Amino acid sequence: MSTELHPLPGGPAPGFASSDDAARKAKETTLLSPRFYTTDFKAMDAIDVSPVRAEWDAMMAEYEGDNNHDHFQRDAAFGEEARASLAALTPELRKEFVDFLITSVTSEFSGCILYNEIAKNIENPDIKQLMRFMARDESRHAGFINQSLRDFGIGIDLGDLKRTKKYTYFKPKYIFYATYLSEKIGYARYITIFRQLERHPDKRFHPIFRWFERWCNDEFRHGESFALIMRANPHLLQGANKLWIRFFVLAVYATMFVRDHTRPMLHNAMGLDSTDYDWKVLEITSEITKQVFPITLDTDNPEFRRGMHRLVDLSKRMEAAKARGGLIGSLQRAGCAVVAGWTYLRLFTLPVKSHELPDQIRLQPSW
Ligand SMILES: [Fe+2]
Ligand SMILES: [Fe+2]
Repeated sequence: MSTELHPLPGGPAPGFASSDDAARKAKETTLLSPRFYTTDFKAMDAIDVSPVRAEWDAMMAEYEGDNNHDHFQRDAAFGEEARASLAALTPELRKEFVDFLITSVTSEFSGCILYNEIAKNIENPDIKQLMRFMARDESRHAGFINQSLRDFGIGIDLGDLKRTKKYTYFKPKYIFYATYLSEKIGYARYITIFRQLERHPDKRFHPIFRWFERWCNDEFRHGESFALIMRANPHLLQGANKLWIRFFVLAVYATMFVRDHTRPMLHNAMGLDSTDYDWKVLEITSEITKQVFPITLDTDNPEFRRGMHRLVDLSKRMEAAKARGGLIGSLQRAGCAVVAGWTYLRLFTLPVKSHELPDQIRLQPSW
């Protein structure tokens, strides 16, 4: 599939010599890899947003207006800029960057598939229309990243990925918690990178980062949609569900923290430190989530921070044990998994901060 392409100078990234390597990475199902989801369409169909009608209609008008309709096209300078800057990257940085692109295209496409499937399988006009708009946006995002992978000669066959990647079933409320968080954290990640490279244009080693500002406004709006759905159904935010919220927030935060610490060079190249970058992203995300979640994790608590670093350390030790293989390797992995589970439980039981929910739900992407 890559015959018409012109692989970039400097050769392939280590570990990603072909489209097959990239496809394998995208299909991976691990604790850290982005997943594809399916859900209960009947329950989705029954969602009522009438308690937030005014804010909902204003949001739908924004989707309709589609202010990013012309954004996801490469300009003339893109190819040249990409070729020039990528030629200068070390093989290790190329690997981390490709890894970042594959994870990103997989999670963008995951949203595209889920939203599309929901739209196809329900009649509820509000939710159907919303899902169509979001699928439209995510398909643009995935396609745009895939073009940059094709520059490396390793574009992902998204049709094949859709057919062959494993799907995880989540009931709607879990979809709302998880997807809301991933949209908002996606916004926080993209805007933090964009602002950093705005201040340090010499560190912008690939043109794709120039697209992040308008791009992340789409993610922000997707998050707003789930915020409105949850606020229209307040039982999702009360009682025992608060524990589910806590669980999902921690899962999303910990996954990002561990995954980002596998890419120190990517962040260094942008003049960022993985740890500082992640605390910043979590601070923004937690601030935003006050629009909908009655609790936020205390990410400044030194014990929380120690626990997150411990998860990074355990994940590295598990990788090393996996590489070692054999009985000893398996035992080491099992040992680390037990400690990681325990650490996660400890993080889950740390005190959280409680909030009153604001009357006006919607926020502006002002970071
Ligand atoms: Fe997206
Ligand atoms: Fe999104």
